Amino acid sequence: TFSEAEKAAITSLWSKISGHADDIGAEALERLFLSFPQTKTYFSSFDLSHGSADLRRHGGKVVSAIGKAAQHLGDIDHALSRLSDLHAQILRVDPGNFRLLNHSIQVTLAVHFPKEFNATTHAAWDKFLSVVSAVLVSKYR
Ligand code: HEM
Repeated sequence: TFSEAEKAAITSLWSKISGHADDIGAEALERLFLSFPQTKTYFSSFDLSHGSADLRRHGGKVVSAIGKAAQHLGDIDHALSRLSDLHAQILRVDPGNFRLLNHSIQVTLAVHFPKEFNATTHAAWDKFLSVVSAVLVSKYR
């Protein structure tokens, strides 16, 4: 659960991100694949070159799902339920990869929103992305 201050920090930064989901998502994925090349194995059919349509499309989907969570902070479990089934039962992404993606997302946000991404917002987003990851790995058996 989030404090009122955390909720405000999450939703106010989300309002800045929402119009740029493809750009932010593509950059976060590119940072993920460059910094942690082992994560590329899940995307063998994708064109992972800089600015590719695959990166932008998939990055947009990932960031939009995060936005959905930001708009349902009291019930992220329910909001991401279908996505949780997908990651756990179909994709079977190793849970350790989620913290790598979260890191890449936070670096991307810090670069693009230096004024908004202060210590308070950073801490709130770190917690928020951890909660999102926890939901997406919650159905592994
Ligand atoms: C697919 C979100 C973490 C690997 C997806 C989709 C979304 C999504 C929205 C598309 C689902 C659909 O088409 O119905 C997220 C979010 C994450 C996350 C919000 C964490 C914040 C990860 C991680 C990996 C991963 C860490 C692996 C390194 C995949 C793969 C697909 C996928 C392989 C299928 C791609 C395709 O073939 O189209 N994810 N994801 N995801 N995700 Fe994730």
